Amino acid sequence: MKSLKIKNLKKKFKDISAVNDINLEIKEGKIIGIIGRSGAGKSTLLRMINRLIDPSEGSIEFNDINITSLKGRSLRKWRSECAMIFQQFNLVERLDVLTNVLIGSLGRNYSLLNLIGIFSKEEKINALRNLDRFDLSEKALQKAGTLSGGQQQRVAIARALMQKPKILLADEPISSLDPKNAKRVMDDMMKINREDGITVICNLHSLDVAKKYCDRLIGLSDGKVVFDGTPDDLTAEISKELYDLDNE
Ligand SMILES: Nc1ncnc2c1ncn2[C@@H]1O[C@H](COP(=O)(O)OP(=O)(O)OP(=O)(O)O)[C@@H](O)[C@H]1O
Ligand SMILES: [Mg+2]
Repeated sequence: MKSLKIKNLKKKFKDISAVNDINLEIKEGKIIGIIGRSGAGKSTLLRMINRLIDPSEGSIEFNDINITSLKGRSLRKWRSECAMIFQQFNLVERLDVLTNVLIGSLGRNYSLLNLIGIFSKEEKINALRNLDRFDLSEKALQKAGTLSGGQQQRVAIARALMQKPKILLADEPISSLDPKNAKRVMDDMMKINREDGITVICNLHSLDVAKKYCDRLIGLSDGKVVFDGTPDDLTAEISKELYDLDNE
């Protein structure tokens, strides 16, 4: 069974232990919710998975390849296999929606100069098809900045699909959205999970949303795993411990 294995993972920022000895195995094809208070280490964990930051100690393996030591071309390949979306969509607002999606096929290092005429017809058709999956193809030629937040996040998901990821990492993808748009974004992430088998690992503030969409919840507190189970396993008492004990 293919999986992501996190072993004794630690990240220190000076004297702060943001992630403090995390061990997890995440099987392919699930929707995983990472929950916990502000500062618990959720974003740090996701950033280490896609190598935006490097761990202080420990390792992350994907299908038995140690991704924490990858360099150069193999690191670029890993980064395309695990796409990431953020709270603030990160689209290029003055470019049209289709071009934003096409940028997803370039990987992380592109310059805007590269954008002139470099996309093949095939890539454009693929980008339009990805937009169409989320009912956004009629927005293809509109500037990304003119779309609603929810639409922009769904464009960001379409863009992520261009890199044919095996994993989608989502760091608070719905935090700045109203409930209706949040639902559409979560539904679309569920769609790519169920239809394409993409593993989704998602940091979520809303416990209700996490319980509704996730197959498994991982609760962090002070950089440690303090809960790991199904939504049904999460008792009111544990939820309280995860969220209510301080006043944030
Ligand atoms: N680049 C950094 N430099 C110094 N400290 C950092 C850095 N990134 C994170 N931290 C610290 O590490 C701890 C964990 O932060 P992290 O952003 O992972 O938490 P989080 O669970 O994502 O919180 P939130 O819910 O507010 O997004 C916090 O104490 C934070 O201040
Ligand atoms: Mg965070």
